[in-house]
Amino acid sequence: MGETTHPLFEGLRIERAAAPVAIVIFGASGDLTSRKLMPALHALMAGHQLSPSTAVVGVGRSELSEDHFRERMRKAVDEIGPVDERAWESLARGLRYVAGGYDHQATYRRLEEVLCDLDERVGTAGNRLYYLSTPPGVFATAVRRLGQHGLHRPAGGGQFARVVIEKPFGRDLDSAIELDRALHEVLDEDQIYRIDHYLGKETVQNVLALRFANIIFEPVWNRRYVDSVQITVAESGGVGHRAGFYEEAGALRDIVQNHLMQVLALMAMEPPASMSPKGIRDEKVKALEAVDILSPAKVATEVVRGQYRRGWLGGEEVQGYLEEPDVHPASHTETYVAMRLQVDNWRWSGVPFYLRTGKRLPRRVTEVALRFNQVPHLPFAPTQAAGLGPNALVLRIQPDEGITLRFGAKVPGQAFDVRSVSMDFSYGAAFPEEPPEAYERLLHDALVGDPTLFIRTDEVEQAWRIVQPLLDAWADDPAPPLPYPAGTWGPERADQLLADNGREWRRP
Ligand code: BG6
Repeated sequence: MGETTHPLFEGLRIERAAAPVAIVIFGASGDLTSRKLMPALHALMAGHQLSPSTAVVGVGRSELSEDHFRERMRKAVDEIGPVDERAWESLARGLRYVAGGYDHQATYRRLEEVLCDLDERVGTAGNRLYYLSTPPGVFATAVRRLGQHGLHRPAGGGQFARVVIEKPFGRDLDSAIELDRALHEVLDEDQIYRIDHYLGKETVQNVLALRFANIIFEPVWNRRYVDSVQITVAESGGVGHRAGFYEEAGALRDIVQNHLMQVLALMAMEPPASMSPKGIRDEKVKALEAVDILSPAKVATEVVRGQYRRGWLGGEEVQGYLEEPDVHPASHTETYVAMRLQVDNWRWSGVPFYLRTGKRLPRRVTEVALRFNQVPHLPFAPTQAAGLGPNALVLRIQPDEGITLRFGAKVPGQAFDVRSVSMDFSYGAAFPEEPPEAYERLLHDALVGDPTLFIRTDEVEQAWRIVQPLLDAWADDPAPPLPYPAGTWGPERADQLLADNGREWRRP
């Protein structure tokens, strides 16, 4: 096809510098700003993907001087290192801080002054990107106030004003619908960018490349060949300093409703006609709509929730969830969820999708594994095939990003024995270039106005519809989550979910 882009991939990646803009981060004194957003902006500036006329305004409740804020941001960039001094200088010139309550009118009056000043001095041209990285309870208020102060539209001559909203988007289906209604009172849907950083991960996007850029996988990507699908998002870390947030969220709201549902949608969706935002998001929604919503009775049999106890990880003893700082000593918050879902459509009918996530599991690993059916007839004696397991395709999303195919091969020697072997593709070995960090990719997409990798309103609601029965069942359940020792793969009951059908979880 020479230099032309395949029509399927047209418009997917826009390699261009963003327009002049003021990026306003609400929640600027928070952890995400230092850990992810500022380093991502620095990397984008260093890679010439931001306009030199870019300003960053932090808004936060902490009383910080602008100098202090600048120092903090420098430290954040230093920690990721190495720093490109020209890129930093360029960012530092337009770095400002506005201290104030998120519901105070004065905060927005001050913000307006700062933005006008930046349009004049830095040339941000009236364009705005608001990034809401505050506690979720603030999202609606902040947007309402932006609207009251006319900040939800580009200022004179500007092209765009967009709002990026961090997860979690609502606490349940009703609050998500309510939040959406509040946002739409002020914003149009095309101004709203609901972020899920999993979609910014290269290897999550690679699910699309693997499936739709190759002829050989799609024919077997269905119920005729696939026995079952496992999606794992395992973390070895505990709740750390985030108990304040986590006690309210739990693994279901923190990971299942968003990251796991997104990976499931990409895995299960039909091929889109094009990689346009609408093409992809329509198909993802259709896949989520096909997921069977669990009845209360089924929640009891198809879902397992757990909570980690004291245990051993990497040779160190770690404390249990209930002993973590700021966790209620009788907390029922789940740190582990495993579930079996059915995707009721022509492609997947009868194929179980096993999903699991947890903190304090033995390793940090995210992967998708397809286990294939057995051959219809094995022309070997059972002893010859003793070492043969089912064919499997494993997409390793992180770490050791890559793909493994497991298949049977003859063991060398006089006898005809077959055994499972692996064929491995490693991202790191195939591509020397460092992939951009998820937040870099997504911030840039929001700046250039590409919503493909952001979550549309119907998608977020459908994901809530799937997890809502679990929330309801657990709210009424006086029993605590099942305990599991830190450093293990979760409660034993989770193994039973698969053992019932003669399957088992992978031990990555
Ligand atoms: C976040 C969750 O969205 O994702 C965290 O709030 C979790 O609890 C994190 O640790 C995992 O992300 P990653 O990119 O490290 O897999």
